[in-house]
Amino acid sequence: MLRLTYYGHAAFLLNDGKFSVIIDPFLEGNPVAQVKPADVKADYVVVTHAHGDHLGDAIPIAQRCNATIIAVNELAEYVASKGAKAHNMHIGGAVTLPFGRVKLTIAHHGSVTPDGVYGGSPAGALITMDGKTVYHTGDTGLFYDMKLIGESQPVDVMLCPIGDNYTMGLEDAVKSVELVRPRLAVPMHYNTWPVIAADPNEFVRRVSATGFNGKMMKVGESLEL
Ligand code: NI
Ligand code: MN
Repeated sequence: MLRLTYYGHAAFLLNDGKFSVIIDPFLEGNPVAQVKPADVKADYVVVTHAHGDHLGDAIPIAQRCNATIIAVNELAEYVASKGAKAHNMHIGGAVTLPFGRVKLTIAHHGSVTPDGVYGGSPAGALITMDGKTVYHTGDTGLFYDMKLIGESQPVDVMLCPIGDNYTMGLEDAVKSVELVRPRLAVPMHYNTWPVIAADPNEFVRRVSATGFNGKMMKVGESLEL
């Protein structure tokens, strides 16, 4: 059984009873997070891009847990230079690791670390664990190749930014769900700050109206997939 937990913003934890994989662990300084970095247990940390609200506490978590950070090459080199274990990948590549499979996808966005180091291409991640695939789009605008991503492997849960301004807004997010065709779409990257205010219930309503399933996860909530 795979359990998905929402930590707020774009941070999620996947746990299959054996391995814990945390994605974009922005906790310290995250106005909506309820969990402290010191309370997180992780074996792997997937970081979609270098912005502070995604790289977040990845390095201290990885160091404390002896976890491996999975990221595109440039960002992986950066975290390694700060003393974290890293697995370097790049867009379009997949790898099978002890917990499952990770494939990095394109994302239309930027990527620079909080201290100004170029982070390579921003990415999304398809993470397959315990037979279930979760697509964390990363920060991105809508792109038509999402259709190809959904065709290449069935997506059980799509984690989809809806907050607008930096990423897809509500309308484009609904369109992205129609392209990927996941079993379930969960909104993320909204209401952390006023500039990305969005109504997750409206997203769920609109996703339902197009014939798909959406669900808003409260911060701290878990789903069994
Ligand atoms: Ni970003
Ligand atoms: Mn972001």
